[in-house]
Amino acid sequence: MARLSHLLGVGFYLFIHLIFFYFNKAPTFQPHMIGELCESESVGAEKRIFFIESSGEKCLRPRQACAIESAARTNPDMNIEVHMALYPAPGIPEVEGGYGRNAHCQMMDILTQQFPNVKVFREDLTRHLLGTPLETLLQNGEFDKSKFSYQHLSDAVRIAMLHKSGGIYLDLDVITLRSLNCLRNTAGEVRSAEYKAGIENGVLIFDKGHELLNHYMRLMTQIYDPSSRECIGPNGLLKAAGEFCGFGVCEGCDFGQLWICRDNWNITVLYTEAFYPIPFRKRIRFYEPTFPLTELDNLQTSYLVHVYGSGHGAQVSHSSLYGFLAQRFCPSVYTVSSRSRVFNF
Ligand SMILES: *[C@@H]1O[C@H](CO)[C@@H](O)[C@H](O)[C@H]1NC(C)=O
Repeated sequence: MARLSHLLGVGFYLFIHLIFFYFNKAPTFQPHMIGELCESESVGAEKRIFFIESSGEKCLRPRQACAIESAARTNPDMNIEVHMALYPAPGIPEVEGGYGRNAHCQMMDILTQQFPNVKVFREDLTRHLLGTPLETLLQNGEFDKSKFSYQHLSDAVRIAMLHKSGGIYLDLDVITLRSLNCLRNTAGEVRSAEYKAGIENGVLIFDKGHELLNHYMRLMTQIYDPSSRECIGPNGLLKAAGEFCGFGVCEGCDFGQLWICRDNWNITVLYTEAFYPIPFRKRIRFYEPTFPLTELDNLQTSYLVHVYGSGHGAQVSHSSLYGFLAQRFCPSVYTVSSRSRVFNF
């Protein structure tokens, strides 16, 4: 009898939570309704968000298209640029597997028709490296030896583009939740078991001509290792920022602060939840068939979420955290991919 009443109690408790969830939290967890983190837009920053697709695929995968739609919805005042390689990146591509890898061409038309601020550029991505320190890596054929060709070209090109034109670079495996228009010279902190604290290169906001980027590109030419996936990505950025902004002297302290670098350049490193509320090694939490409500509370101070490896992640169910976010922040892409014969989001 005690057992039964206990079960009933638990059932009631869950029921109340479900009600709270659907009538209270879920409806407002939508673009522009969840509240903004930006209070005033940064003056002088380039008003563009750009993405890089370096594989040479003709069309985007649903989750890549979702990243673009969510940015376009939450940042209507920005130009959204999608730079897609005309040719596969030089070198050998990384091995990929898993769900969600089928490119979906119809989705790209929907994006450009529905969001006038989205523009797709098909181009030789390596042209962005010309006139930068990275030109030597290209011309010496270093990228031809790459064993992670998509990653390496993308790591290099994003920095060259930021240095040349400024703006906001986003990986194609994010969902943007809020306006990014107050961010300037900013990256995000991550913490992981391997290192105490680090900065990732999946979300980078920089003014045109920022000297840290120039320093970083010069460093890349020295440390480039064709067989190391991360060499010029997060590891390179951390090393460059260490040298240029003194990160190394801050053993054990919080990265989340304004760093004054050489010659008065600066960079703000935001707290982990800003862009990476769920760390890489816990990324399965995006894909579990259901998710606890508290996950949404964790996103209250997030500008966006990085879901990691969207191209080779687990299957997405409607009731997963990723499914929940996608239905709200990239509804057009989600609907189209639900309608296709095989739901392949
Ligand atoms: C950081 O750099 C920007 C751009 O150069 C500058 O406008 C700003 O005043 C700097 N902030 C500090 C606190 O030095």
